[in-house]
Amino acid sequence: MDQKIPKVKIVIKSPSSSLELEAKRGIGFQGVCAKHETAIEFNCRAGDCGICCIKILSGEANLSKPTAIEADFLKAMRADPDERLACQTRVFGDVCVEADYL
Ligand code: FES
Repeated sequence: MDQKIPKVKIVIKSPSSSLELEAKRGIGFQGVCAKHETAIEFNCRAGDCGICCIKILSGEANLSKPTAIEADFLKAMRADPDERLACQTRVFGDVCVEADYL
C-alpha cells in the first residue's frame, strides 16, 4: 500500500543561515534534523536541557501541542510564548522557526 503523506514546508533560520525544506506531515524536528544539517542543536532529546529551544516565527498553529514535560520546562524557564523545544515538537503544517537566537 502506497499512501501519500502530505508534505509540509519547514523554514529554519539562524543568524547565519536559512534552510527551507519539505518533509512529511507529522514529522518531529528531531527527524527533520536527522536528515538535514540545521542550526537546531539537541542534547538530552527529552525536554530536560533546553538546548533545542526554537522561536516560532510563523505557523504556530501547525505544531503539536506542548507535551507535559515541555510545558513544565518552558514554564520553569519563563520562556516566551513563541518558544518551543524542538525535541518535543511535531510539524503538521508549514512553519518558520528560528534557532540559535539567544
Ligand atoms: S534536546 Fe534537551 S530539551 Fe530538547
